[in-house]
Amino acid sequence: MLIAQITDLHVTRAGELLAGRVDTRAALGRCVARLAALDPRPDVLLVTGDLTETATAEEYDFLRQALDPLGLPWLAVPGNHDDRAAMRRAFPQMAPAAAEDAPFCHAVARPDWPVRLLGLDSIVPRRSEGALCAARLVWLAGQLAGATPAQPALIYMHHPPFRTGIAPMDACGLLQGLEDFRALVTRHADRIAGILCGHVHRVIHAAIGGVPVLLAPSSAHQISLDLRSEAPLGFCLEPAKIALHDWRPEIGLVSNYVYIDDFPGPYPFK
Ligand SMILES: [Fe+2]
Repeated sequence: MLIAQITDLHVTRAGELLAGRVDTRAALGRCVARLAALDPRPDVLLVTGDLTETATAEEYDFLRQALDPLGLPWLAVPGNHDDRAAMRRAFPQMAPAAAEDAPFCHAVARPDWPVRLLGLDSIVPRRSEGALCAARLVWLAGQLAGATPAQPALIYMHHPPFRTGIAPMDACGLLQGLEDFRALVTRHADRIAGILCGHVHRVIHAAIGGVPVLLAPSSAHQISLDLRSEAPLGFCLEPAKIALHDWRPEIGLVSNYVYIDDFPGPYPFK
């Protein structure tokens, strides 16, 4: 099963540049063009939060109109820039059973797929940091009980469940429920293929109890790598990427990162 992941799109309002500099609408257009050109086609597209910059209906409409022509099933969890109710209104196909005022915006894929895609809502409304309260951990434990080593779960969420070392992002990381989440994952490690996340706008890999945790970069702009303890938050224009996760029962999860923009020289060069 081929799973494409994009994250931290930060689609802005029409005519606005992010931080006065990044045209995230144009970046999404290039990202969608690269997704459309992938051969073989992914089976599903996951969007791991911060779909929009300010969570307006206009921003979500722009995103839906950009993704729909791909003809791919796609699922998304909210990031700290998103709004649950606005997402549900914009993308009713993702959570048909969830009422608009349901407490969380989890997004679970069809149960007949070879991997059980479990979208875990990690946000705290109007806050940058994430949280996994008892109710969400109970929900996740119930979902994991339905997974098996033969049909494992693949958890996707916005906030990374580990310390990245990038101080300003760790300060707004997963600040509640982290230890209980890690204990839950460790107990079910034989039935979790991996954990996909975003939020930090960089490629960063870690593990929990032997389960790979893969943080994908933004499809628009990145965050500077600065591991000093007093580092300020800095954005940069390192190349944007799509994560492409290939899960096969006999191998497990193999992940590649696809550059979105063109680069010098023919590809491949022979
Ligand atoms: Fe975020």
